[in-house]
Amino acid sequence: MRIIYLVSALVTSVLCAKQDLVIHNPIISGWNPDPSIIRVGSEYFIATSSFEYWPGTPIYRSTDLVSWELFSHALTRPSQLQLYGVPTSAGSWAPSLSMINGKFYLTSMIRWTYDPVAKVWPRVFWVSSDDLQHWSDPTWCDPWGIDPALFQDPSTNKVYLNLMSPNNNIDRIWGIYQCEVDLESGKCIGEYHSLWNGTMPHNATSRPEGPKMFKFGNWYYLLIAEGGTDQLHRATIARSASPEGPWEPNPNNPLIYNGAYGFDNLTVQSTGHATLFNTYQGDWYAVFLARRNVNGSSPLGRETFLCSVNWESGWPILNHGEPILLDSSQASASSKAKLEPFYDAFDKAVLDLSWYHLRTPYVQLYTLAHLGDSGGVILHANVFSLSDRDVPAAILRKQRSLNMTFSAEILSFDGSLRSHQTIGISAYLSELQHQDIGLTGCRNSTGMCIYTSFLNNETAEV
Ligand SMILES: *[C@@H]1O[C@H](CO)[C@@H](O)[C@H](O)[C@H]1NC(C)=O
Ligand SMILES: *[C@@H]1O[C@H](CO)[C@@H](O)[C@H](O)[C@H]1NC(C)=O
Ligand SMILES: *[C@@H]1O[C@H](CO)[C@@H](O)[C@H](O)[C@H]1NC(C)=O
Ligand SMILES: *[C@@H]1O[C@H](CO)[C@@H](O)[C@H](O)[C@H]1NC(C)=O
Ligand SMILES: *[C@@H]1O[C@H](CO)[C@@H](O)[C@H](O)[C@H]1NC(C)=O
Ligand SMILES: *[C@@H]1O[C@H](CO)[C@@H](O)[C@H](O)[C@H]1NC(C)=O
Ligand SMILES: *[C@@H]1O[C@H](CO)[C@@H](O)[C@H](O)[C@H]1NC(C)=O
Repeated sequence: MRIIYLVSALVTSVLCAKQDLVIHNPIISGWNPDPSIIRVGSEYFIATSSFEYWPGTPIYRSTDLVSWELFSHALTRPSQLQLYGVPTSAGSWAPSLSMINGKFYLTSMIRWTYDPVAKVWPRVFWVSSDDLQHWSDPTWCDPWGIDPALFQDPSTNKVYLNLMSPNNNIDRIWGIYQCEVDLESGKCIGEYHSLWNGTMPHNATSRPEGPKMFKFGNWYYLLIAEGGTDQLHRATIARSASPEGPWEPNPNNPLIYNGAYGFDNLTVQSTGHATLFNTYQGDWYAVFLARRNVNGSSPLGRETFLCSVNWESGWPILNHGEPILLDSSQASASSKAKLEPFYDAFDKAVLDLSWYHLRTPYVQLYTLAHLGDSGGVILHANVFSLSDRDVPAAILRKQRSLNMTFSAEILSFDGSLRSHQTIGISAYLSELQHQDIGLTGCRNSTGMCIYTSFLNNETAEV
């Protein structure tokens, strides 16, 4: 009886083949662009970009690909990440996780400035770790560029650096470049060469980026993003018998491109910058970035999405070739993953991992206070405001829902505020755009006044 049951269970599972996971996208809501995923046994880890925020490069962990917890940050010391005076959306971008000689590597880059006159280039580095929690100081690389990724060829153990880089400093035609690297020195030990220019017309506006390399079966695959980061963003792939090319493009590119259905038709747009991976059960999936288009803008920025991957004739097919939607099934709204409210009493020994500063702090910016049986956070006021390209005494948390409320309680404090001193809360996008409410010293009388302020580029309404 028992044996018959086991046999029939086996047959059933073979017949069902792959049971697609019910996916509710985004899998990591709120601003989490450029996801790179790595599987460690039955656990999955995703690193995303953090730009001008501190600490840098969040790493999320999951065991089921559905619920994700913030696990660590790769860049937690000033020796690893120098965000001094960097403008909004510069800073640290596009991490790539890889396993090399039994160690974790995270490759990333820092963009220092957008000043078109200064000849300052995005610089590439990697850090390494045994546990994805404690990371080394950076090794800086010779080549400069964007979206670097390390790949170890399982057949030869050679380590390659793949990245987006310009052909030269005059034409600035970007493409995917490669060299074999020395992990210790960061120097190219092989020829630095053009690897692939992608599938789109190749001129100064084309942006083949985000190279991810992997080997499956006898083929090496080079998965990239193309079309720029906005509406034309997409994922394309090529394969080769060697990690050094030449590359044969997939006849069915792009792998994902929601813009093909119109820029306003679908909520999900700008699908691309993907990483492919397999589960420990052997099913394949992809993580990638996309944004939710709400009335022509994307208030939460670029978020982390997931879709299924199937293989046909040695090529991956993402999401069965269908456009990416928020839900992969007809699951009822009630079965949707609900975001739990977040409440922080600041009564733990350390600040919750989900709080960020702007840029690299020069000094400690807060103290956690234990006030009787409750907690609190004391911000160490300084001369910088949220509008400075510096380090204001502020802690910020990512907005994760399109429709949310938030509040904070200001605890009593000694003394008063002067008219240029403020304490309050902010809906913050950048040093150029934020909306604040709080307390300040009154201008024309003693005591404290409530202020509201809306800064939108050059316009400030107070
Ligand atoms: C990519 O484009 C650059 C600039 O036009 C060119 O020099 C290079 O040979 C191309 N690379 C490949 C692999 O075709
Ligand atoms: C680059 O090619 C695209 C697509 O053909 C075209 O729309 C664009 O104008 C070109 N840009 C330049 C600078 O030549
Ligand atoms: C909108 O996208 C859907 C795919 O979900 C497609 O079937 C439909 O044709 C698109 N409509 C337009 C006007 O492009
Ligand atoms: C989109 O814009 C319309 C018209 O301004 C407005 O009625 C609607 O509430 C907006 N929707 C969202 C989700 O903001
Ligand atoms: C936002 O959520 C509140 C509370 O659930 C609800 O009353 C309101 O209609 C929602 N607004 C939008 C634009 O969805
Ligand atoms: C302070 O008083 C001046 C002169 O009466 C007035 O113009 C200004 O609006 C007042 N400022 C505030 C913040 O009340
Ligand atoms: C703010 O200014 C920048 C640079 O001038 C411009 O590109 C951007 O569109 C502006 N944003 C808003 C919301 O006005």
